[in-house]
Amino acid sequence: MAQIWNDDDGERWAADADRRDRVLAPVGDSLFGAARLRPGERVLDVGCGCGATTLLAAGQVAPGGTATGLDVSAPMLRVARARQESGGVANASFVHADAETHPLPGPFDAVISRFGTMFFADPARALAATAGGLVPGGRLIMATWQPPDVNPWLTVPGEAIMRHAVTAVDLRDRRMFTQSDPEVVERLLTGAGFARVRLDGVRVPLPVGTDVADAAEYLAGTGPGRAQLAAVADADREAALRDMRTALAEHAGPDGVRLEAAIWIVTAFRPD
Ligand SMILES: C[S@@+](CC[C@H](N)C(=O)[O-])C[C@H]1O[C@@H](n2cnc3c(N)ncnc32)[C@H](O)[C@@H]1O
Repeated sequence: MAQIWNDDDGERWAADADRRDRVLAPVGDSLFGAARLRPGERVLDVGCGCGATTLLAAGQVAPGGTATGLDVSAPMLRVARARQESGGVANASFVHADAETHPLPGPFDAVISRFGTMFFADPARALAATAGGLVPGGRLIMATWQPPDVNPWLTVPGEAIMRHAVTAVDLRDRRMFTQSDPEVVERLLTGAGFARVRLDGVRVPLPVGTDVADAAEYLAGTGPGRAQLAAVADADREAALRDMRTALAEHAGPDGVRLEAAIWIVTAFRPD
């Protein structure tokens, strides 16, 4: 997994960081709404990627608090550090490490993660280490995806593309959905030593593009979009993209194209 985030996927995320952060901003809003960070707190952002949520957390815990972003991806951390420097955020830092094997640089009052916990090869081990990095009574707040079939940002473009596909693509098999089942999440976190595990289902509108062409380009470049387009024969690819643009046009408004996302905001506590 580390290699993937240092090669193709990491470079892709790094290159598209600003746009992706605009799209995922409503997810961050839900995460921070639940996290209720306070000045003076020490926060760890696990799988922080390009650092947008780490830098937001740093602002919320100032003065007196710190935000540490931890990620295994060198290209994404390059973006995070450049953003930190250009924003002059003095109370944030970034650690290049694998959350599964690296002792966490704690202790922390809170651990946050926006879609950074579902790619662990051994999530039980990584989440146990996360619990160990929290002070007693400390909290974990993470955003994970609900299943693909209840996510219009996937079903709207996906159904249009898959009308042209020659092979089936089951998005449920993708790693990003490994923490979509509440029972799985609850079992994982309880096994990792967390208590009072709670999943709140939240639906947020994602601004996927400034117009239909921009939205189509963004969605075709996501992991699910690329997997579905790869199932379409070359000769039919343009027709699939045209159908996708037609489907997206129904969701276009004066502020661009918005599609709903269904996520879980998960909270859990290290017992006192
Ligand atoms: C879907 S991205 C989310 C990035 C960021 N949280 C965001 O919202 O933009 C998943 C992130 O988890 C990181 N990641 C995956 N496995 C990891 C591990 N074992 N240790 C640390 N980071 C990891 C990846 O490098 C990637 O940055």
